[in-house]
Amino acid sequence: MYFYLPTKIYSERDCVKKYGAEWASLGRRALIVTGKSSARNGSLSDVTDALKEQGADYFVFDEIEENPSIELVMRVRDLGVREQADFVIGIGGGSPMDAAKAVALMIAQKDKGADFLYQKGEKASALPVVEVPTTCGTGSEATPYAILTIHEQRIKASLPHKVYPAYALVDGKYLMDLPRQILVNTAVDTLGHFIESYINAQATDFSHMLCEYGMGVWSSAKNVLIGASRTPEECDTLLFASTLAGMAISHTGTSLPHGLSYYFTYEKGVPHGKAVGYFLPGYLSMAGPLVRKKVLGLIGFPDMQYFSAFLHNLIGPMEADDELVTKAVKGIMANESKLRNVPYEVTEAMLYQICNMAY
Ligand SMILES: [Fe+2]
Repeated sequence: MYFYLPTKIYSERDCVKKYGAEWASLGRRALIVTGKSSARNGSLSDVTDALKEQGADYFVFDEIEENPSIELVMRVRDLGVREQADFVIGIGGGSPMDAAKAVALMIAQKDKGADFLYQKGEKASALPVVEVPTTCGTGSEATPYAILTIHEQRIKASLPHKVYPAYALVDGKYLMDLPRQILVNTAVDTLGHFIESYINAQATDFSHMLCEYGMGVWSSAKNVLIGASRTPEECDTLLFASTLAGMAISHTGTSLPHGLSYYFTYEKGVPHGKAVGYFLPGYLSMAGPLVRKKVLGLIGFPDMQYFSAFLHNLIGPMEADDELVTKAVKGIMANESKLRNVPYEVTEAMLYQICNMAY
C-alpha cells in the first residue's frame, strides 16, 4: 500500500495571491489555459496579479471548449511552443484543467505528434502545471488525469500519461457566482468520484480514509444543491469535498458510472457530472448491503429510495435511448481499464440493470 501525491495543495481563502511567491516562480513565462467564461470570477485577475508581482510574464488562451479535443490541445501546444512557455496554469473546471495538463505534456514533448497523447508505456515529462479550480466537481487539481475527446472514436478517454499538477490553489470564493446547474452537476460529479473510488478494486486504506471523511464533508453541504442561495463557507465546503474526491480517485481511478457517462456526454452532450449521476444509484445498488448501507450513511441518506429521489430531483432522469445504452454497455465490456476497477465480475446484464435504474 502506498500514497503518492506530489501536488502541493493550498486550500484556503485568497491562496492564489497569498502563495504567489511560490507558484508564480515556477518559470519565467506562463501559458494560462482557460475557457471563455471560466475565469470571470476574479480567478484570472488573481492569477495575473500574482504573476506580475513575481515579475513573471504570461499569455492567455481562453478558448477551451467543454470536453476539449485532441485537435484543440495540439493547437494550444503549438501556441505554447511558439511563445516559449515554461509553465502552464489551468483555470476553470475539468475541461481547462485537463487541457492544461495535456498541453504541458505536449509542449515538453514538442517533437511528438498527436498520437503521443494516447501512446501507452511511454514515460514522459511535462512542464510544471498549476491548477485553479472554479467548479466543485472535477478534482483535476489533485489528480494526474487528463480526459480528452477523441472525435475519431466518438468518445472521451483519459490519457495514459500521468501529469500531476505542481500546485493546486483551491479557493471556494470562485464558486460564488457559478451558475446553479453547473454547481449541481459538478457536485454530483464529486459524489461519483467518492462512490466509485470507495467501491473500487484499487481502493486502499488511504483512499477509503479520503472517501469516508470526504463523503461526510460533501453531505454537510449537499442541501445547498437544492436551495436557492449559497454562502462563501458552503462554497468552500463543496470545493474542499471536490479536492478530497480528486485525491481519492488519483489512487483508484473511477469505475462504471464514469465509463458509461462518456458515451452520453459525447453523443448527447449531457454535462459530465449529470451523466455520471445517472448511473450512481445503479452502481451503488450493485454493492453488497453492508457497503451500500455505509455509503448511504456517510452521504446522509436513510435508504436507496431517498438517495435516488435526491439525485432525480437534481439532475432529472436519463432520456431513454436503447441504441446508445447498448453501445455504452458493449464499450464498457471491452474497456479493461474500467473493468479492472470494479471489485466484482461485471456482466452485460449488470450494466443494463445499472442503465435501467437511470430512467
Ligand atoms: Fe468526473
